[in-house]
Amino acid sequence: MNSDEFRRVGHELIEWIASYRDRMETLPVMSPVSPGDIAQQLPAEAPIRGEGLDDIVQELDRIVMPGITHWNHPGFFAYFPSNSDLSAVLGDIACAGLGAQGMSWQTSPAATEVEDVVMEWLRQMLGLPETFSGVIQDSASSSTFCALLCARERSTAFCQNQGGMQWEEEPYVVYASDQAHSSVPKAALLAGFGKEHLRLIETDDDHAMRVDSLEAAIGNDLACGRVPCAVVAAVGTTATTALDNLQRIAEIAEGFGLWLHVDAALAGTAMVLPECRWMWKGIEAVDSLVMNPHKWMGVGFDCSAYFVKDPQHLIRVMSTNPSYLRTAQDGVVRNLRDWGIPLGRRFRALKLWFLLKDLGVEGLQARIRRDLENAQWLRQQVDATPGWERLAPVPLQTLCIRHVPEEIKGDEKALATHNQDIVTRVNESGHYYLTPAVLKGQQIIRISIGATPTERRHVEGLWTALRTEADQRVASGQWSVVSN
Ligand SMILES: Cc1ncc(COP(=O)(O)O)c(C=O)c1O
Repeated sequence: MNSDEFRRVGHELIEWIASYRDRMETLPVMSPVSPGDIAQQLPAEAPIRGEGLDDIVQELDRIVMPGITHWNHPGFFAYFPSNSDLSAVLGDIACAGLGAQGMSWQTSPAATEVEDVVMEWLRQMLGLPETFSGVIQDSASSSTFCALLCARERSTAFCQNQGGMQWEEEPYVVYASDQAHSSVPKAALLAGFGKEHLRLIETDDDHAMRVDSLEAAIGNDLACGRVPCAVVAAVGTTATTALDNLQRIAEIAEGFGLWLHVDAALAGTAMVLPECRWMWKGIEAVDSLVMNPHKWMGVGFDCSAYFVKDPQHLIRVMSTNPSYLRTAQDGVVRNLRDWGIPLGRRFRALKLWFLLKDLGVEGLQARIRRDLENAQWLRQQVDATPGWERLAPVPLQTLCIRHVPEEIKGDEKALATHNQDIVTRVNESGHYYLTPAVLKGQQIIRISIGATPTERRHVEGLWTALRTEADQRVASGQWSVVSN
């Protein structure tokens, strides 16, 4: 493709993206296609002769669009907000256009230095101590994996330089709560701790880690000759946005010499609001933390911010220094390949920069406050409406609720079917998208507020839709209909 063709098709594509965003609300939020529907429209083999991209916008509309679930739709209340603001889209385009590798400072100095600066902005915006340094990773999963590798190496005095975990005499143990995201057990297993040495600590009625149980588990492991190594605390769990008591967990971690990692993948964005920072009181004591600008903040996937207190330790764990990667500036610059697992790095800082430059801290704060207010409004409605129950506090933007009609009160099976069916019907309407979930054995309707275009009217509309579906099922008495 030459630059003239790029200009022509590129302008058309920008126009296509802009009009997609404009008409988003008219589209069904959840893709209605069946498995295979999209794949069967593409040729089974790559084109032998180049076809050009003249029809690419029509192909996107015909083949791709039906298979898109619209995460930036105002009626998107599923999973978690994964916003991709248009400013960040432009940053991604600039990144792709430059096509630079940022593995070393020298391979594109701007890629490193813009990242240095925007991560420092982010550190300030989140109210983190000056001693923390940040780096962009692809995901919270990778960040947590890095954290547990760093924990392992600190506890074992760099076992990777000898026989690895296989040579250790005592087993090393990792602790998290039973509400921790699946990426935490995954990281512990991949880092070689083994399932038997992963303790998922029970949670209290608010779904936060029970610190007395954590202390007891550590004591028991010590008594049995095992070595407590790391604890992962959640500031905002996936299911309910529960807040582990970071201050207490930090005291315990310090007392027993554990690495403390914080998973604030979603909730970290709320810390741009000073009034939310009580939620991670004690954060200055952690060894590492992750929060995802690619969730609620509005920087399209992938952009995960990993902050560490001791960057030299991270570099020591991660660095490889083959002769072909050494440069004259190595002593005075950050080579970001040594701050994570992959060697190659995209210029992801551009999209974070574009978003922050466009929106400003105040713009972002206003949006987050709006979402928190919308969540509180909905909480009040649920609490005030007979027949509806809330199964978790609402510190942020997620609600876990269910409808409990008198007729089936106490019948967990019937309640599960009833609530699942409400979600199915609401999702089928095309106006809203929710994820059903099971919280400690109870079927819930989980509502995650915070898509960028979601305003109060959309939350009101969802609440009306939920009540209408619930009432209709009660009126028809369809308790035994199995959810589809
Ligand atoms: C608390 C928490 N941690 C980690 C993750 C995983 O994030 P990522 O997709 O960036 O790995 C999620 C995603 O939902 C999450 O909610």
